[in-house]
Amino acid sequence: MAKGKKTVYFCQNCGHEEAKWLGQCPMCKEWNTFVEERIDSGITKGTTVAARAVNEAKVVPITEVSADDDTRNKTGIKELDRVLGGGIVPGGSLVLVGGDPGIGKSTLLLQVCQRMAKQQKILYISGEESQTQIKLRANRMGEFSQNLLLLCETNLGIIRSVIEKEKPELVIIDSIQTMYSEDVNSAPGSVSQVRESTNVFMQLAKGLCIPIFIVGHVTKEGTVAGPRVLEHMVDTVLYFEGDRHASYRILRAVKNRFGSTNEIGVFEMRQNGLVEVENPSEYMLSGKPENASGSVVACSMEGTRPILLEIQALVARTNFGMPRRTAAGTDYNRVNLLMAVLEKRLGMNLGNCDAYVNIAGGIKMNEPAIDLGIVMALVSSYRNRPIDEKTIVFGEVGLSGEVRAVNMPEQRVAEAKKLGFETCILPEVCMKTVKDVKGIKLLGVKSVNEAVAIF
Ligand SMILES: Nc1ncnc2c1ncn2[C@@H]1O[C@H](COP(=O)(O)OP(=O)(O)OP(=O)(O)O)[C@@H](O)[C@H]1O
Ligand SMILES: [Mg+2]
Repeated sequence: MAKGKKTVYFCQNCGHEEAKWLGQCPMCKEWNTFVEERIDSGITKGTTVAARAVNEAKVVPITEVSADDDTRNKTGIKELDRVLGGGIVPGGSLVLVGGDPGIGKSTLLLQVCQRMAKQQKILYISGEESQTQIKLRANRMGEFSQNLLLLCETNLGIIRSVIEKEKPELVIIDSIQTMYSEDVNSAPGSVSQVRESTNVFMQLAKGLCIPIFIVGHVTKEGTVAGPRVLEHMVDTVLYFEGDRHASYRILRAVKNRFGSTNEIGVFEMRQNGLVEVENPSEYMLSGKPENASGSVVACSMEGTRPILLEIQALVARTNFGMPRRTAAGTDYNRVNLLMAVLEKRLGMNLGNCDAYVNIAGGIKMNEPAIDLGIVMALVSSYRNRPIDEKTIVFGEVGLSGEVRAVNMPEQRVAEAKKLGFETCILPEVCMKTVKDVKGIKLLGVKSVNEAVAIF
């Protein structure tokens, strides 16, 4: 091997580096993810850059840096703006959009281009699809402005010079795993290539003050590096998730240097692209069965927005010695814990029952405030007695069966009222905050016992 080059092993899932091949990654505990890559030590390059940087670098007092938070650049898609924390931050930010294959990442970004190209010059760089294929997708979406420029290229050097020459106001990279730099020896999609490409895009974004959106695929196995490798390098990480069989999609911020990470954006995938869902509660509750036992409406706060959702539970006698429990859309261990609370505090005999809990619509919610909803759904199914369908339930359940306070009860009650619910079962301690809300019957409960005595 030539001097200055060495071989290392990278975990393709989390980017952890080892000198030897290992079966299991010591960091992320995934199996069989190590792949050999050859890297250059690059000592000479590093010193020249350092010498030049010392001459060019200048320091500025923080008081003299101008930055106005109102100048966020709106993408025109409200749900995306909300997740970004109000829009794209000026001054060159790097946003990673991750998600399973085929979830709609390219569609979302092309829609951003469609809206923003009305005022700005945008460069869409695709390493996956040809110009014709992009145009076919664009045809489904409608009119596009000529400010949107397409480039089908994977070579980082060429892309860099095109960006420097064209000076667009927004750049989309679809996807980071297809980009390759000639300075790195390993194949496109490997950890060192993905890191190098992200580095180049970061320098371009910060240097030329251009916001850049990067698409990253999430895969566990194979030779393609998961976007987790670059999570710490970018400013914002958005994940696009959803059930393959349902048409809605949820956009979530996992990391955001310029905003909250609690907000979600809800979209529906249609023939002509993604459509914003302005009232997710209504959407989640459509198709709720009437007068069925084991179905309860609960409320979860996603950032500043309350979302009503239906929790379904099915408790049935088990035919085997070992009862089955499943939880879809919520934490499995949490469901087991709540069932243990029911057994101990309510004396319910769940030891010989299978229990299946599901959040309808395939959405994932883990806020503790849905605990009381899960408990009520389980009890309703166990007793085979439906809960009044105009009732909504929220509250956190503790290990001694107490119902604990949750945050923002007024917003939850207001959302329930808006959607026509007539009764709300909530923690007793939250009653003080919401006592002024009129038009909905409020029932404060201190314990699970009190809550299940209501129906
Ligand atoms: N004619 C169509 N009608 C309705 N939906 C369509 C149509 N064509 C594509 N779709 C939807 O668009 C999705 C593909 O979207 P898109 O290509 O944006 O996903 P992606 O996340 O970029 O995928 P990849 O990871 O392969 O790049 C499909 O899964 C499908 O749901
Ligand atoms: Mg795509």
